[in-house]
Amino acid sequence: MYAITGITGKVGGAVARELLAAGQPVRAVVRDTTRAEAWAERGCEIATAFMEDPSSLAAAFEGATGVFILPPSEFDPEPGFPEARTVIEAVSAALLKARPDKVVCLSTIGAQADEVNLLTQRTLMEQALREMPMSVTFLRPGWFMENAAWDVESASADGVIDSYLQPLDKPVPMVATADVGRVAAELLQQTWRGVRVVELEGPRRTSPNDLAAAFARVLNRPVRAEVIERQTWEALFRTQGMKHPMPRMRMLDGFNEGWIDFESSSDEVLRGHVELETLLGELMSRRA
Ligand SMILES: NC(=O)c1ccc[n+]([C@@H]2O[C@H](COP(=O)([O-])OP(=O)(O)OC[C@H]3O[C@@H](n4cnc5c(N)ncnc54)[C@H](OP(=O)(O)O)[C@@H]3O)[C@@H](O)[C@H]2O)c1
Repeated sequence: MYAITGITGKVGGAVARELLAAGQPVRAVVRDTTRAEAWAERGCEIATAFMEDPSSLAAAFEGATGVFILPPSEFDPEPGFPEARTVIEAVSAALLKARPDKVVCLSTIGAQADEVNLLTQRTLMEQALREMPMSVTFLRPGWFMENAAWDVESASADGVIDSYLQPLDKPVPMVATADVGRVAAELLQQTWRGVRVVELEGPRRTSPNDLAAAFARVLNRPVRAEVIERQTWEALFRTQGMKHPMPRMRMLDGFNEGWIDFESSSDEVLRGHVELETLLGELMSRRA
């Protein structure tokens, strides 16, 4: 049986759908049982746990062959990343108690970077889970294509997407969460020893200009990308309610300056199948 955290979200949901399609038993780990009904109807066991709570997590992982760890996103962390550290401690303690054979943990492109930035939260998770006694895989996907959901409104209404990624012609590794979930489910069903890192991107790299062109084709109207100047980011993030914008700014710097990237050579990085235009089409139809 596979215990899947984050199952009510994009990646966890995709992992669970793939496992169920392969005939594997799934335990849906949710923090709110009212959101688990659809999974119960599909034959999943249900367990309630918070990613910050070691005892509910240990119970949720009990008896599982494999566990999928989806660390919750924290875009505005307090200095020193206490939110991520609480989750890391809880997950580590729960894994030590439940002792599944294998773990696949969702990490990120650039988790190996030395510079402190938003993704340091996953660097810390990787460091902790490397010490676990069971087999562990870190799946490091590129930028999620689903982040383009933020641009749907302005692309449709104004024909413009504002970009923190720059220069506008710099290709960025992007991947759809359906591919991330599919690969995570495949990895979970494999047998391996020790720690391994698997990096994943989509069929082709995508610059902000490419994203604008894909929007233009899907919307059948001209769409262009525009740079959001670096010197405006801090004030902008603060007006959006962020208290600690620096880690997010440094993450964007990392993509733009190239120190957030895959660790392995490009022929070792796995490639997903979902094309950006397909994903944008789905985003548009969900909005309709
Ligand atoms: N965006 C990117 O470009 C990118 C790239 C690489 C990696 N990632 C990683 O992808 C992950 C996000 O995946 P996603 O897009 O699938 O997220 P998502 O759709 O926002 O789903 C988040 C899931 O986590 C659950 N959750 C959140 N906080 C929780 C808590 N405290 N306790 C228990 N469950 C909790 C949510 O449950 P509820 O339904 O109850 O809210 C939901 O099931 C993050 O780890 C991020 O670092 C993102």
